[in-house]
Amino acid sequence: MSQLKQMDIVNFKLNQETYSRLYQQSINEPNTFWAEQGANFVTWFVPWQVVNDSDFSKATISWFKGAKLNVCFNCLDRHLAKKANQVAIFWEGDNAHRRQVITYQRLYERVCRFANSLKTVGVSKGDKVCIYLPMIPEAMIAMLACARIGAVHTVVFGGFSPRALRERIQNAGCKVIITADEGIRNATTIPLKKNVDAALSDITVRKVIVIKNSGTKVAMHSPRDIWYHELAYQQSEACEVQWMDAEDPLFILYTSGSTGKPKGIIHTSGGYLLYAAMTFRYVFDYQAQDIFWCTADMGWITGHSYGVYGPLANGATLVMYEGLIAGASPYLVWEIVDRYQVSIFYTAPTAIRTLMASGDAPLANSKRDSLRILGTVGEPINPEAWRWYHQKVGKGKCWIVDTWWQTETGGIMIAPLPGPGKEQQKPGAACQPFLGIKPLIVDENGKAVVKETQGFLTIAQSWPGQARGIYANPARFDQSYFSQYKGLYFTGDGAFQDKDGDYWITGRVDDVINVAGHRLGTAEIESALVRHPLVAEAAVIGVPHPVKGESVFAFVTLISSNPWQDSLIPELQQEVIVAIGKLAKPDKIVYAPKLPKTRSGKIMRRLLRCIAADELDKLGDISTLAEPEVIEQLKAALAAEKNKLE
Ligand code: WT7
Repeated sequence: MSQLKQMDIVNFKLNQETYSRLYQQSINEPNTFWAEQGANFVTWFVPWQVVNDSDFSKATISWFKGAKLNVCFNCLDRHLAKKANQVAIFWEGDNAHRRQVITYQRLYERVCRFANSLKTVGVSKGDKVCIYLPMIPEAMIAMLACARIGAVHTVVFGGFSPRALRERIQNAGCKVIITADEGIRNATTIPLKKNVDAALSDITVRKVIVIKNSGTKVAMHSPRDIWYHELAYQQSEACEVQWMDAEDPLFILYTSGSTGKPKGIIHTSGGYLLYAAMTFRYVFDYQAQDIFWCTADMGWITGHSYGVYGPLANGATLVMYEGLIAGASPYLVWEIVDRYQVSIFYTAPTAIRTLMASGDAPLANSKRDSLRILGTVGEPINPEAWRWYHQKVGKGKCWIVDTWWQTETGGIMIAPLPGPGKEQQKPGAACQPFLGIKPLIVDENGKAVVKETQGFLTIAQSWPGQARGIYANPARFDQSYFSQYKGLYFTGDGAFQDKDGDYWITGRVDDVINVAGHRLGTAEIESALVRHPLVAEAAVIGVPHPVKGESVFAFVTLISSNPWQDSLIPELQQEVIVAIGKLAKPDKIVYAPKLPKTRSGKIMRRLLRCIAADELDKLGDISTLAEPEVIEQLKAALAAEKNKLE
């Protein structure tokens, strides 16, 4: 590796010409390609022995085996010589009186102090640390501190309920929890510490570190709980890094699948960092003077890869905002863009649609001249929202990058190359595979389909950012991603290529739904509903929603002899809030005398979707339905529901 010549990535331009050349190389000689990129983007302490040792048929993924590095060193220490005084984070509080400007030097010191604090409470290499924090600088600092000492973080979104939090803490075996007294979001508070107490009511952890954020009084349970400021003030602001193997885990992040409990997706140090750094640099055409704002919460993969690791590995300046932009004043969003001169803005279609719904006045109130690239992620973007983003927000001058990827892919997989190059942008198309990514759209037999035909999106070749496993469940990793189509990684999404070869993503083809960019497993919501003592069975589907993309729609059957009452609706919604969180609350719950099932007992969600959408002409083949009269019953139940509303 040491012989590899490093490319000048700062001045390199990925345009159609260089892309075509590099793409060919990345697919034809992947090991040479990734070895070169590994040298370009990452500083290694010890070089690797094997570039790629992945095998889809065994569900084993491995990159840069034998190499040593530290992710935090790559995000901070190596920039200090030139960028100590450059701003790393412009932090904007939910309440404009709270702001912080943190340079690379200061971020480094605060991370070291945090890392030493973790060591003081006994955290060492390989230990799992749960981070349950609001969008305050400490969220990023805590992640980097874990990476510095080799601890594995698992960030849990603050919107998850105590029960969901406990499930994750238990599954990952976390020893230490980092939380705050409260989160502050759009002028409301989130009782994080209280939630942690509830989550830990019947499990034991070594320490709960509490950050003072809102300043409210919270219960502290001695000796388990400790205030961060009391722990930190005596710590040094220097902390040696722990050199890690490229394949040592960096983090576990939970996401929903189509069956069972959430999956703890494992990402490792070397390959993940390279892939996050490289995709950030090229997909957003990042240049030294750019100011980047990714609005995603740290609790999601977007917050990990483009809210922390990708940008910091490139020494970029970030904006971080405490609130939720979809819930913030639309004036504030564009004010922040102007205040910090944001040049690259990355958000989700649901946020774009919310902002669009508030009209053009907030836009008229701001300049937005600094914007250059506008990104979107999380769900397919509808053309109206795309056009508004392009024409109104970006005044027709910005390139829109619609980035398709997943928690499991670690980084962006398919996205248009920021122009110039192609004359016309395509609203709603994810377009081209990133370097080294080989998508393959197949039919149900795993046979490649021709252009302009819908099929299942798979990836035919491993890439360094690929997830390495599901924590404590290797069999499920194999079964979820590698068992459908031999030799291919199955994404769970549908897609087609247009006549130019550009990729369009059509949405999930499994029992996963996407509500406001949040991925939810229908099975998890159903098991929450059946916890109610009167419910016999539940079936959940996603139905189109103008702002959220999809909303949760549930059909429930009751244990015989119990009559349906509308007063059950809030009780059932509460079951879901308790089990998962408000983000999964069904907007609609309808009583069903019976559910449509196949003779083998599988719920036919496809039929439920047609019934919910009142598209009975699209029911298609119902010959596998065990009891055809169910359709009529459901129709009657929905009609009765509608009458009630009118
Ligand atoms: C699922 C992954 C990756 C960050 C956020 C979501 C959907 C994601 C797009 C896009 C169409 C998209 C897919 C995917 N998705 N980006 N640009 N166009 N669909 O991560 O929670 O792991 O969800 O989000 O269905 O499989 P995630």
